[in-house]
This record gives sequence, structure tokens and C-alpha cells, in this order.
Amino acid sequence: MEAKEKVIEVKDLVISFKTDHGVLKAVRDVSFDLYRGETLCIVGESGSGKSVTSKAIMGILAANAVVEGGEIIYRGENLLEVAEEEFHKIRGHKIGMIFQDPLSSLNPIVRIGKQITEATLINSNKLKLMYDDLISDDLIAYKNTIQKGKARAAKLRGEVEAREIDLKRRINQNAISAADIKAEKKAIKQQKRENAAQIREIDRKSKSEAAPLKKKLDATRREAKIKVAEYKAEVNREYREEVFRIKSESALPAEKKKMLAEAKLARTDKLKITKAAAKKKALEIMREVGIPEPERRFRQYPFEFSGGMRQRIVIAIALTETPEILICDEPTTALDVTIQGQILELIKKIQKDRNLSVIFITHDLGVVANMADRVAVMYAGKIVEYGTAKEIFFEPKHPYTWALLSSIPDVDSKERLDAIPGTPPNMIYPPKGDAFAARSKYAMKIDFEEQPPFFKVSDTHYAATWLLHPDAPKVEMPKIVSERIKNSLAAFEASRREAGKEE
Ligand SMILES: Nc1ncnc2c1ncn2[C@@H]1O[C@H](COP(=O)(O)OP(=O)(O)OP(=O)(O)O)[C@@H](O)[C@H]1O
Ligand SMILES: [Mg+2]
Repeated sequence: MEAKEKVIEVKDLVISFKTDHGVLKAVRDVSFDLYRGETLCIVGESGSGKSVTSKAIMGILAANAVVEGGEIIYRGENLLEVAEEEFHKIRGHKIGMIFQDPLSSLNPIVRIGKQITEATLINSNKLKLMYDDLISDDLIAYKNTIQKGKARAAKLRGEVEAREIDLKRRINQNAISAADIKAEKKAIKQQKRENAAQIREIDRKSKSEAAPLKKKLDATRREAKIKVAEYKAEVNREYREEVFRIKSESALPAEKKKMLAEAKLARTDKLKITKAAAKKKALEIMREVGIPEPERRFRQYPFEFSGGMRQRIVIAIALTETPEILICDEPTTALDVTIQGQILELIKKIQKDRNLSVIFITHDLGVVANMADRVAVMYAGKIVEYGTAKEIFFEPKHPYTWALLSSIPDVDSKERLDAIPGTPPNMIYPPKGDAFAARSKYAMKIDFEEQPPFFKVSDTHYAATWLLHPDAPKVEMPKIVSERIKNSLAAFEASRREAGKEE
């Protein structure tokens, strides 16, 4: 197999939310890589942290989120520490996202065409684009230095805040003695003092690092202004020469008029992205995503589109930029089954044509079978198992994965087995050991006490379950799961062959 290129690396990501009831641990030590051109499916029950993980990659976490740790490495940089100026260049442009409900991503009172061309036309001034491009590297280097300091300070503050919220919760629930309250309050105060000193030091350091970068940026800005002015002058000079040439030609007046109009248009094209150019591109993309009669559709409003067509529009909007990563968060759950199939086919086609890397989030294993090269199974904020689609479907190792697989509807009877018994834990109080233990009949004593590490099953397949410990009793996957898999096997393989995932 050829060497795989990582396009994004998520390392030890920890994200919590500050809530009225306490600190909710939404993402706990999540790590995964995404390779160029592959589809990674993230699968798991509601609330397992799938959307929060993808929002962190997009830089659109809610305001009450605290990133407690980890890195998201994209093109050699940690996205959790880059300035908004840089994120602005990445979000939507290099990493696109499609959400579950297409209606909420579209503006109901704006024509579809305008919504597709909007992003292009907002930045239609080519001179400004040229200027921004010229200063971009230096601007980002400068802003990132400041942002790094800010991110580190925010993390320190978030930690203390989380501790305070947690103390308050324990006091409210009478879960702490008076002496311990006093001790904890004192410790928090002490931590605040230490933080303040650290934050001052971080501030000082980032200021001194930023100073020379600011100087460089100012110089680059001056140069860029001159370059842009020169370009503009050159375009105008060419235009004047062209006009002169046309006027001195011996052509019919009507022909000359046409040539002059063309010269003028050529000049405009060099200075800005015209509405006509943006529309042309939009129509091309509408065709690419399978919208019939795009010219007519261009002028319609979202309510005149069916759910499936709306989702195609949302995909079209994501594609007006040229993303290299596409995050699809349950993009078909709101659609009926036939339409769902069509949208999945569309996403697969676009991925192939554009060699996109796709993170596909779903709780539907049928969809996973149809889409995935690799699968990560999430439970209670953690990845509990990951591997190639084949490994996850045919040799699952984690009891939670077994439970998920046994809930695939039967191919013949279409009937679903019982839902997984019990409910996911309250993530304000994440369990100590394997979070699935309380719902698993295979749980051992250690599952309630200690977090299982990842055990290697193959070079590509890992599972975090104590069942894989050499000293654990040998447990086979439940018969009902293996039967279910065997039954679904034919359908599964057929759907993958069709999808071009297997030879
Ligand atoms: N802004 C927020 N404030 C508080 N808690 C939040 C916030 N956003 C998400 N959560 C919590 O974080 C956990 C993970 O949520 P997430 O949206 O990632 O789940 P999910 O796996 O995408 O589930 P679903 O399949 O329902 O979309 C949940 O317990 C959720 O309630
Ligand atoms: Mg979600």
C-alpha cells in the first residue's frame, strides 16, 4: 500500500462544558488521524461527543466550552492555538462542513443563487484579495503568537473555573465536608495566584515574541500597498493601450464598439470577481451536485426545494471553495431513505472526483457500511475502538461495538434487535473505568476501576477493552452479534462493492 498522507491529526483532545449542573466532560482524550482521500466514519450513540469533536476541528465550539487539552494538527499547526485570522482562511475554505438539517444552514428569504455566490462575492475585490494574500503569512505569524498566549491563559483560567464549578456542585449536593470545602477553597485561591503569575509571564513572552513580527508585518504592509498600486496601474495602462489600438484600427463602428466593450470587461475581470463570473461558477457546481435546470433553480427560494435538493445546495455551497476536508455531521438523518441514498452517493462521487478526505458522523451502521474506509467508535466522550471498516464489522472487539452491531436491523426481517440496554452515563460524573461497564454483561471488576488502554488487534485495529488483556478470560463476541453480522455480511459486502470500497 502506498504511504498514506495525514491531512489532520487529532491528539489527546479533551473538551468540557461549563453548565449549571457542573462541568460536563464531553470529549475525553480523543485521538485519530485522517488520511488524504479516505472516509473516516465516527459512530456512536447520541451524546457520545461526535459533534463536539467535529466542531472543535471547525473552530466553532460553543462559548461555554473549555478545551482542556490536546492538539488538532493541520498543515503543521495546532488549530486550537491559531488566531481567528488564520482560522478564517481555513474554515469553509480548506475544511468544509455539512450539517444534519439543511434548512438551518440556508437563509429562507434569500434566493438560492445568491446564497451560493455570496461567499465569492463578499471577497470580490481582487486588489484587496491580492493585498491580503501578500500580507497573509506575516499577519498570521504575528496574530498566532498573540493567540498562543491567549489560548494558554484561557486554559489556565478554564481549569480554575472548572474547579470552582465542581466545588459548588459538591457543596449543593452536600457531597463534601466543611473541612474539605475550606481546604479546596484555599487550594483554588493558591492556584489562582500561581496562574496570575504564569499568565503575566505568558503575556510578557508573547509580547516580546510579537514585537519583531509586528515590525516585519508593517514593512510587508507597505510593500504590499505599493505592489497592489503597481498592478492596478499596469491593468489600467494595458486597458488604455488596448482602447487606443482598437480606435486606430480600420474596422466597422459596430465592431469597434463590441471590441471596446470586451476590453472593458477584460479590465473589470482583472480587478474584481464579477457577478457574472460568480454565477457561472455557481451554475457549474449546481450541475456537479445534480441540480436539474440550474438556471431556473438559481432564482428560487429554499422553500421551493425538497429536503434532498436543499442538502445538495448546502453541499454546493461547501464546494464553492475548494475544501480538502469535508466534515459531514449526520447529513442524511433528516431525509427519507431513498433521498438519503442519493445524497450518500453524491458525497461519494464528490469525494472521488476531488480526492477529499471526509469525516462522516452518523449513528447508523448501515450508512457506515456504505461509506467508511475506516471507523472510529465513540462512547461517552472516548474512542473505544477503531479500525478499517472490515475489521470493525467482522472482528469487533469492544462490547460496545458488539452492542452497536447487534442493533443493525436484520436484512430479511428488517426488525431491529433490542436497543442497547441502559443509558449512557451522565458526563458530569464520568465513570472511573470503562464507561460502558455498567451496561455490559462482560464487565469485569477492573472495568469499574480502571480505564482500559488501547490494545492492538492489528496494525490498523485497536480497541480499549480489558477483554483484550492477556490475563482476561477468553470471551467470544455474543452469538447474536456474529449471526447478525453473518446475515448482514452479504448485504454489507454488496453495498461496499457497489460503493467501490472493495474489489
Ligand atoms: N454547549 C454545550 N453545553 C453543554 N453541554 C454540551 C454543549 N454542547 C454539547 N454538550 C454535551 O456534550 C456531549 C456531547 O455532545 P455531542 O453533540 O458531541 O453529541 P453527539 O455524539 O454529536 O450526539 P448526537 O448523535 O445526538 O448528535 C453531550 O452530553 C451534550 O449534551
Ligand atoms: Mg451530533
